[in-house]
Amino acid sequence: MKLDSPQMNLILRACNKASRSLIRDFGEIEKLQVSAKAPGDFVSSADKRTEKIIIEELLKAQPDYGILSEEAGVINEKNKNNRWIIDPIDGTSNFLNGIPQFSISIGYEEENKLKTGIIYDPIKNELFFAETGSGAFLNNSRIRVSKKKNLKHSLLGTGGPRSSSKLKKEIFEEFIEVSKNIETPIRKFGSASLDLASVACGRFDGFWQHDLNYWDIAAGKIILKEAGGFINIVRSETSDPNKLNIVATNAGIHEQLNSSVFKKKVENN
Ligand code: IPD
Ligand code: CA
Ligand code: CA
Repeated sequence: MKLDSPQMNLILRACNKASRSLIRDFGEIEKLQVSAKAPGDFVSSADKRTEKIIIEELLKAQPDYGILSEEAGVINEKNKNNRWIIDPIDGTSNFLNGIPQFSISIGYEEENKLKTGIIYDPIKNELFFAETGSGAFLNNSRIRVSKKKNLKHSLLGTGGPRSSSKLKKEIFEEFIEVSKNIETPIRKFGSASLDLASVACGRFDGFWQHDLNYWDIAAGKIILKEAGGFINIVRSETSDPNKLNIVATNAGIHEQLNSSVFKKKVENN
C-alpha cells in the first residue's frame, strides 16, 4: 500500500536512508557487546548520526519547515504551519543492549494537527504508517485495533518509570492495581512508539505510560487513531509539565483502562 502525499514520500525517503545507517550501527553494537568496550558513546553517536540524516533529507526538500527532534531540539521555530516531530531511535536502551526492539519515529503536523506518521522497525522491516483520513497500514496491509471488550482478557503494555522519576512509587502501585484486574501479565518492551504501533495493529489491546515526550508518541498517535484506536494524553501535573501521560487502546477497553489509571482528561481527539 502506498500513501502518496509529498510529506509521506519525503518522510519515507529520509527514513529509508537513515535506517541503512542504523542497521549498520546495530551490527556494530552486537560486536561491542562481546568486547570489553562500553557501547554507550557509540549509541549516542548512532542516535545523532541517524537524526542528522533524517533532518538533512527533510530540510533539503523543505528548508522552512519546523522541526522538533529529540537530540537536535527545535529548528525553524517560527514555522507553526508545518512541523516534523522526530525520534531518531526510540528504544535506545534496547539498541544499546543489542535487543532488536527500536524504531525510527517521524510525525508531521500542519497547523498543530498531526497529518502523517511513520514508525519503522528496521530489524523486523515493519513499517507502520498513516495519514489523516486514509487509514493505517503495516507494510502492505491495512491495520485495525483489536476487538476485545473486556479489560480482564486484554494484553496490555506499559513502560517506565525512569530511575529519576518522582512518581516511581505511584507508578508501581498503579501497575499492581492494573495487574490485579487482568489475566495475562503486562508487557514492557521498551519502545513507546512500537508499543503504540502494537495497539494499532491489534497485538496489544492497550498501552499506558507516564512521563513520555511528544516525540515518543506523535507518529503513534495518528497511526493509532487511523487504525480505529483511542488515545488520551494528559499533561503531567506532578513532574515535568512537558511530560505526557498516555492511555492508548482499542475502542472496547478505553474507558476501563482509562478509569484504572489517569484520572484527569485533557485531550481526547
Ligand atoms: C524511551 C522509550 C521507552 C520509554 C521511555 C522513552 P528513547 O525513548 O520510548 O519505551 O519507556 O520513556 O524515553 O529514550 O529510547 O528514545
Ligand atoms: Ca523515545
Ligand atoms: Ca530517542
